[in-house]
Amino acid sequence: MNPGIETMAFYTPRYYLDLRTLAAHRGADPDKFYLGLGQEKMAVSPPDEDVVTMAAEAARMALEGVDVSSIDTLMFATETGVDQSKAAAIYVHRLLGLSTHCRSFELKQACCSSTAGLQMALALVAQRPHKKVLLVAGDIARYGLGAAGEPTQGAGAVAMVISAEPRVIAFEPEQGSYTEDVMDFWRPNYLEEALVDGKYSIKVYLRALAKSWEHYRQESGRAFTDHDFFCYHLPFTRMAEKAHLHLARLNQLPPDPDRLDREVEPSLLYNRQTGNCYTASLYEGLLSLLETSEGNLAGKRVGLFSYGSGCMASFFSGKILPGYRDAIPLDRGRRLLEDRTELRYEEYENFYEHRLPTDGSAYAIASHQTGAFRLAGVADHKRNYERVEVAAVKAVPPPPQAVPAKKAVVA
Ligand code: HMG
Repeated sequence: MNPGIETMAFYTPRYYLDLRTLAAHRGADPDKFYLGLGQEKMAVSPPDEDVVTMAAEAARMALEGVDVSSIDTLMFATETGVDQSKAAAIYVHRLLGLSTHCRSFELKQACCSSTAGLQMALALVAQRPHKKVLLVAGDIARYGLGAAGEPTQGAGAVAMVISAEPRVIAFEPEQGSYTEDVMDFWRPNYLEEALVDGKYSIKVYLRALAKSWEHYRQESGRAFTDHDFFCYHLPFTRMAEKAHLHLARLNQLPPDPDRLDREVEPSLLYNRQTGNCYTASLYEGLLSLLETSEGNLAGKRVGLFSYGSGCMASFFSGKILPGYRDAIPLDRGRRLLEDRTELRYEEYENFYEHRLPTDGSAYAIASHQTGAFRLAGVADHKRNYERVEVAAVKAVPPPPQAVPAKKAVVA
């Protein structure tokens, strides 16, 4: 059997802003966000949640029932790193209590580093089948208050246990890759919000799709119709719809009004409620497909397109395994999305504007709803994480006081 995913889980913050609320404050037609972008809600992380706590929570769920002593590598794909030197993976390693013999490091190439990590992990477990890799991917997408990209903001993390004996999906070895030096979306080290050439980024996404598909087709000999489902990187769900129709046209398929509903729609349901989770988005889409599709998907082939601005892209495929329904609780994602607190616009701005001190002073962060881990505060320029009882932090606290700090530059 090909290696693949043994278990996986998704986590998204416990707060969201409805895009109708955002539209009202931006003087926009809500249909532009709901229909034009295909987004309904954006996940908003509270001040005591960051990529470390989100990824640790996703990993905690993915590791349920897994012998953690078999995990010898932890990879963390993110573009929301919390330190220029120390890998966010090291914090997650400690929070999860992994073995000191488990190496831990961070990966970067915009939204595509999770896929680079996956492909590296598949090679590792093929070489040493008795070991497993824990791959976590998580991000908080920030474009700036009032920026064109604001309605596509979001947050979330996915964790996957990669193994030589997968239960969820086994990946086929052929893949198509594409790299091109472009400035469609980037974030210099001194900015907290991404800079983006939005319309251009859509063009480059579609070009990278065509090029990596063509490479994959040559490598695998497979046709479009050899795939039952398609999962795309999801900056917003209309992007996947555009991508799928583009790919169908490139493959000269006759028009089919049910194509999107049948082959793509199940993978879009979670992202529509969370917004862009960058490195996690494609795999959030895969979980959405697995958890929300009716019927048994065992044996179905999924084509996956991963895109990371800048840019690098990858097209690859996998076959869903008979054990997938036992390996992932099928209603977990839906329950997580339903059990969230809606923010008023002012609360969203308060969360968004919150900054940690940058002068090394000690600062304790008020408790909000989180998963089992939270960022308790900072002191001496060091982050302090703690484990919490999830049930004990249900009440919605007052919005935090923003700490005056470095001014964010809005894209
Ligand atoms: P915009 O200029 O505000 O929106 O920015 P628009 O005017 O293009 O409208 C969007 C859609 O809504 C259009 O549909 C409109 O027609 C429609 P389309 O023509 O494209 O089919 N629309 C309406 N529909 C119904 N009722 C209405 C209405 N009004 C308009 N009343 C843009 C949109 C996506 C550019 C912006 O949100 C943005 O810059 N987003 C961030 C960049 C992005 O997501 N790029 C995607 C590709 S790059 C990528 O995926 C990588 C990334 O994830 C980062 C990484 O790799 O790390 C971003």
